[in-house]
Amino acid sequence: MTTRIADLPTPCVLISRRILESNLQAMAERCRSLGVRLRPHIKTHNLPEIAQRQLHAGAGGVTVATPQEAALAARHGVRDIFVAREVADRVDLCALLDVARSVHLITAVDSVAGAEALAEVAAAREMPMAVRLEVDTGGQRCGVATLEALTALARRVLALPALRLEGIFTHEGHVYGAADHQDLIRQATAAVQALGAMGAGLRAAGVPCGEVSVGSSPSAKTATDFRGVTEVRPGNYVFNDGMQVANGTARIEDCALSVVATVISRPAPDRAVLNVGSKLLGSDRGKNASDTGGYGLVLEPERQVLTRLYEEHGVIDAATGLRVGQRVRLLPTHACIVANLARTVALVDDRGGVVEVWSNRRYA
Ligand SMILES: Cc1ncc(COP(=O)(O)O)c(C=O)c1O
Repeated sequence: MTTRIADLPTPCVLISRRILESNLQAMAERCRSLGVRLRPHIKTHNLPEIAQRQLHAGAGGVTVATPQEAALAARHGVRDIFVAREVADRVDLCALLDVARSVHLITAVDSVAGAEALAEVAAAREMPMAVRLEVDTGGQRCGVATLEALTALARRVLALPALRLEGIFTHEGHVYGAADHQDLIRQATAAVQALGAMGAGLRAAGVPCGEVSVGSSPSAKTATDFRGVTEVRPGNYVFNDGMQVANGTARIEDCALSVVATVISRPAPDRAVLNVGSKLLGSDRGKNASDTGGYGLVLEPERQVLTRLYEEHGVIDAATGLRVGQRVRLLPTHACIVANLARTVALVDDRGGVVEVWSNRRYA
């Protein structure tokens, strides 16, 4: 007998099969039309079931954030993996090399110290490692910010026989904080152009630079000039969420992941309390263009904003039409956090049936 959504205990996380498939196809088509390779960031879900669908839809490889995520992807048959966060701890470096035994693994470097540490471990194991240099295109997180610094780092990497320079990358996550949708498009385009120019600048300085990789869902969808870029690494696009709706890069109908919760209290006429809190939803709200105004948007039975969160409580301060015991479906503000915190997620069809239940391998 098919399990129904109505039979699942709440709070529970649902993924619409139809919307997921449509998001996968749309991004694959966008990349084809732009002439760039797609290497999705799978930290959004960490689900081999979705990674396989992404590869099937046309992705050439995947992106992950940690050696552990790389190992998980490799265990599930992914053969081309980019770890797009610097690794500096010796234990983690060894874990990376373990994964690199069986797959094409690329790692991120943004400092001479980081490059030398990786080279030392790689040389000791006689296993050359592919690296990409991280460029800061405005996010002010990791990455070198000038062509001069990038060229110097690239020359140092080229001088380390245990490393193979594969290209450069950036994460233009600052576009989420743009003032509005138009500003987001402007900032996304500027970041993508900046990385393209860095690649050209490196080559002009005589440094080989194969891959030029940008990565964020809003920029993959909206940037208007991808000249010089070879690859994009969007992650969130598989689900979309409240932040993408707020910043205008997705519609509510494009959001594949939702949470079902139950009203557990109606302590005042305008206040309703749900049995879901930050332990499942996280506490992101987004900012500026991506600010959702709360921690989740109740979609059904009526739109209303989750205004306050506790670990296991979610409060709607301007509640309408909700009664104790009623189930509601809500759109989380940041889907990547929910997929990460949930122990299981249910793939569902449009008729209220549960097609499959996937477990979060982080807890396996
Ligand atoms: C290095 C890197 N690449 C790509 C992405 C994907 O961006 P998005 O979550 O906007 O899809 C992220 C997200 O944090 C990231 O850190």
